[in-house]
Amino acid sequence: MLKGKHIVLGITGSIAAYKAAYLLRLLVKKGAEVQVVMTPAAKEFITPVTLSPLSGKPVVSEFFAANDGQWHSHVDLGLWADAMLIAPATAASIGKMAHGVADNMLITTYLSMKAPVFVSPAMDLDMYKHPSTQANLKLLQTYGNHIIEPGFGELASGLEGKGRMEEPEAIVAYLENYFAKSADMKGEKVLITAGPTYEKIDPVRFIGNYSSGKMAYALAEVCAQRGAEVYLVSGPVALETPAGNIHRIDVESAEEMYQACIEHFPSCQTAILCAAVADYRVAEISDNKIKREESGELSLHLLPNKDIAAALGERKQPSQYLLGFALETHNESQHAEAKLRRKNLDAIVLNSLQDQGAGFRHDTNKVSILSAEERLDFPLKTKKEVASDIIDYILKNRKNK
Ligand code: PMT
Repeated sequence: MLKGKHIVLGITGSIAAYKAAYLLRLLVKKGAEVQVVMTPAAKEFITPVTLSPLSGKPVVSEFFAANDGQWHSHVDLGLWADAMLIAPATAASIGKMAHGVADNMLITTYLSMKAPVFVSPAMDLDMYKHPSTQANLKLLQTYGNHIIEPGFGELASGLEGKGRMEEPEAIVAYLENYFAKSADMKGEKVLITAGPTYEKIDPVRFIGNYSSGKMAYALAEVCAQRGAEVYLVSGPVALETPAGNIHRIDVESAEEMYQACIEHFPSCQTAILCAAVADYRVAEISDNKIKREESGELSLHLLPNKDIAAALGERKQPSQYLLGFALETHNESQHAEAKLRRKNLDAIVLNSLQDQGAGFRHDTNKVSILSAEERLDFPLKTKKEVASDIIDYILKNRKNK
């Protein structure tokens, strides 16, 4: 997968910089063309003299070459690369990347980068755990960067914990996996519903639920990264639209979500219904704010909303794949299986509020995928990883349809 790929390997000032030589060698062995960019601090740990012969190119570290004043163009590198890999990435460089502190060649190259960026942190365990580092890593993720989690083990400080740069073989495997998957949804359109719906009671109140949209937005991000064009029909959430070919259609009520889905479903090969849609709406929305002093006790007359999943299930063509979600609190499998059949879904992703770290608002989820043929149980993972598992499942099973 790496043959012929242009990779900018950024090296920052960490003791783990010595591993970058081996990493570089592995990348070159896989057929990649690698341009090394080092921070000034990285040169304290490993010299360009080691790295340049391994890459077959002069190492870039300064804005200008000292001997002849030639400008090293970070802009050109940003256009040349198929990927930028920063390994090891120190807390300082991660902070500069997160906040655009462009005071060295590596950071300017990062800011000019058009290709996906992979960051492999390396630092002491307490530095890694620090809220500042974690917040900066989260920021990088919101920019669409991929964080290659550090491993547990012995650190340069002599302490043991999380902070060791991932092993070069694993980093290369991560890149290979990324490139293998980066185009497997190319040319395909995917409809995804996200977040809660709000059903108005009066001008200031609504019926809603706790959905944050995180699970659905992770799905949209993964689909876009894998080359799909995504129609993201989103209820009210406080999330940025992920990078990529994503058309976000903001809606508020279940009826608006229904209309948007009915419009876009016919052109999509896959629909993933992740939204927590309100099952009921208020029969009569009050034009004015309801006053307790005037109304006393209040009963709301609720009417059932349209079932979007079932409506798409009815319209589904043989070439289309329809995946729903089920958030359950008890008799989970039974309820999920009933929804799978009732809504004519190809598969349903079950998450239960009985599982810690699963369901609403968490960055993690624990799911099972159920179809008429099988059930697959997954451990607790980040929502991004869960999204990848779900997409892998759809691509594999759609072929067998
Ligand atoms: O947004 P997060 O905070 O990340 O949380 C993620 C999540 C818990 C919302 C998500 O993982 C999830 O489980 N979504 C579905 C929640 C749900 O309300 O499911 P349900 O059992 O009510 O509905 C079953 C399926 O029918 C779902 O695919 C739902 O989108 C769909 N549905 C339901 C009602 C309706 N009127 N129309 C629908 O399309």
